[in-house]
Amino acid sequence: MSRNPLHTKLCDSLGIEYPIVAFTHCKDVAVAVINAGGFACMGETHHTPDEIAADIKWIRERIGDKPFGIDLVFPASVPPAGTAEELFAKIPKAQREFVEDMKKRYNIPPPKRRPELFELGWMNQETPRKQLEVALDERVPVLASGLGNPAFVVKAAHERGMQVWGLVGKPRQAKKELEAGVDVIVAQGIDAGGHTGPIGTFSIVSQVAAMAGDRPVIAAGGITTGRHLAGAITLGASGVWCGTLWLTTRESDREMVIKEKLLAATQEDTSYSACISGFTMRTLKCKWHEEWESPNAPKPAPAPYQLLLFADVKQSAMDWKIESFMTEAAGQGVGFMTTMKPARQVVMDMVEEALGVFEDLFGAPLGEE
Ligand SMILES: Cc1cc2nc3c(=O)[nH]c(=O)nc-3n(C[C@H](O)[C@H](O)[C@H](O)COP(=O)(O)O)c2cc1C
Repeated sequence: MSRNPLHTKLCDSLGIEYPIVAFTHCKDVAVAVINAGGFACMGETHHTPDEIAADIKWIRERIGDKPFGIDLVFPASVPPAGTAEELFAKIPKAQREFVEDMKKRYNIPPPKRRPELFELGWMNQETPRKQLEVALDERVPVLASGLGNPAFVVKAAHERGMQVWGLVGKPRQAKKELEAGVDVIVAQGIDAGGHTGPIGTFSIVSQVAAMAGDRPVIAAGGITTGRHLAGAITLGASGVWCGTLWLTTRESDREMVIKEKLLAATQEDTSYSACISGFTMRTLKCKWHEEWESPNAPKPAPAPYQLLLFADVKQSAMDWKIESFMTEAAGQGVGFMTTMKPARQVVMDMVEEALGVFEDLFGAPLGEE
């Protein structure tokens, strides 16, 4: 029997050393984590099919035959199709006028360049389907769906030897995805950075782990330390999926001003709100959040229109260095991130701390097969 509590069924199913999964938009982070013995899923929602193909090639050249994943999102409630201009024209009047007034009050100029349809991501249902074709053609080892049930792609993916992972925020979503044949469930709690459901990480991970049988469940939401990793394993998870953690690594391509904000932030500096995209999302608090919480603010527009409204302001804030409107998706674990380290070091520190926790509890030595 294995003496290493970090050697889980997720490690066996992927042939990896540590059950640590990086969700990242940065290729350098993905490669560093994979080559350190972990696993990475590249967030490709903001890329064109050609860019995704190029990223896959780039990653493969640097990791050899080790496995990796691509993360896409398939929200069911956005329009079936439409160009950026067509969608911008449909932004509801009340929210549009509120933002126009806000821009005047804070002297926010237009961005230097408005993001294109693919850069905006999941604005319609057609875009993710085009991105998906590349993932299938390239037979990426893992296809993760960050939003929406990936049931429709399970058969095609399995025929190509790919695993399908589903990220869920509610146990009933996990049940449906397990019934559809999804291979791994990422159970994500409200602590998480980015889009997230209303249930705490402790509650959702243990409940989904209890329903998944032999299939691995990965814990997500606020996980940034080795103690968190050890906690996730004891809740029944076979690994952890971390997003915020990698934003402040040396390899991360996030702007320095954002990295500094993240390193300075505490748990109390994040907000859980629909004001960024129309779906509930955890992000670093900024003036935008304050404005949408003010008594005269309308309700946020539904997705994707709220994200379209925010996209221009976000870009203006970066283009014109308006710090009070700068934000980033960030989970509550951000309070544990205080220094900028190489991604490999982050993996090793997490492993060492988690093994230390188990050794304290159950006696040394652990970490050997
Ligand atoms: C900056 C950032 C961007 C994210 N973008 C996506 C995304 O495009 N697709 C997705 O499935 N999840 C996205 N997420 C959520 C992550 O996949 C992950 O579930 C989350 O970060 C876990 O919580 P943590 O940030 O507390 O580790 C994002 C998270 C962050 C922090």
